[in-house]
Amino acid sequence: MDSLSQLEFEQLVDGAKALAYSLRGPRVYLTTDHKVVKIFRQKGWMSSNRLLPYALRFERNANRLKAMGFSSVTVEKVAKCRHLDSHLVVYPLLPGETIRELADRPAKQQYALARLPGYLCKLHNNGVYYKALHLGNILMQTDGSFALIDIHWTKFYKRPISVNNRLGNIFNILGYAEDHASLARYGLNRFFVDYLSCCQLDEKHKAILLGKLRNSRSFPELKQLLYTTS
Ligand SMILES: Nc1ncnc2c1ncn2[C@@H]1O[C@H](COP(=O)(O)OP(=O)(O)OP(=O)(O)O)[C@@H](O)[C@H]1O
Ligand SMILES: [Mg+2]
Repeated sequence: MDSLSQLEFEQLVDGAKALAYSLRGPRVYLTTDHKVVKIFRQKGWMSSNRLLPYALRFERNANRLKAMGFSSVTVEKVAKCRHLDSHLVVYPLLPGETIRELADRPAKQQYALARLPGYLCKLHNNGVYYKALHLGNILMQTDGSFALIDIHWTKFYKRPISVNNRLGNIFNILGYAEDHASLARYGLNRFFVDYLSCCQLDEKHKAILLGKLRNSRSFPELKQLLYTTS
C-alpha cells in the first residue's frame, strides 16, 4: 500500500471541497479534478481496522460488488497517511445524486423510491448485507441506475441474507428522520408490499418478517402494514 507524506496529502486535497466531516475534521473531500478522497481514521488498538484497514475493505468490497453486477465506485488508490494516523481511498465521483438529495425534487425521488424495494431485494437475495444502508448512501446515477458509495461496512454471504439482517437493514433506513419522512411521503405500505413481493422468502419466513415489521416498537406506524401472505 502506498504511503502519503503530509505534503503529498496536502497536494491531493489542495482546493478540494469537504463533503463530510468527523469531529477531527473533513473525512470526505471532493477534489478539483472530481475525485473523492475518503479518510478512515485508525481506531483503537483492539479495533478490527488494525487487522484489515477500512480503506482496504472499501476497495475489496467495491470490487466484489462490481463483480456481482452491483454498481459502485472504482477505487484508484488506497494509501496510508501517517501524519493523520489514517488510511484513505481515492475514487472518481460518480455522476448522480443520492436518493436523500432528491428530497427537494419529489417526482424524481418518488421514481427512485419506487425502484428501491426491487434493488434491496436483489442485494438481499444475493447475500449482500449493506450495513450502511440509508438514502444518503445510494446514488441514483444519471442513467437512473443505483450505485452504492459507502461500502466498507458490507458483508457478503453465500446465501440470501437472514430475516433479521433484512429487518436490521430496513430499520436502519427508517432510523434516519429525513429518510423516514421521504418513505412516509412515498407510502410505507406501498414500499413494504413491493419489498415483500420480490424478497423471494418462503411463506413462513415472509410471515415472520411481516410480523416483526408490524410489531416494531420503534416504528409503531408499521402495525398497519397491509399485506396478505398466502
Ligand atoms: N462516488 C461518489 N459519487 C457521487 N457522490 C459521492 C460519491 N462519494 C461520496 N459522494 C457524496 O459525498 C457524501 C459523503 O460520502 P460518504 O457517504 O462516503 O461519506 P460518509 O461521511 O461516510 O457519510 P455517512 O457516514 O453519513 O453515510 C455522499 O452523501 C455523497 O453526497
Ligand atoms: Mg455516507
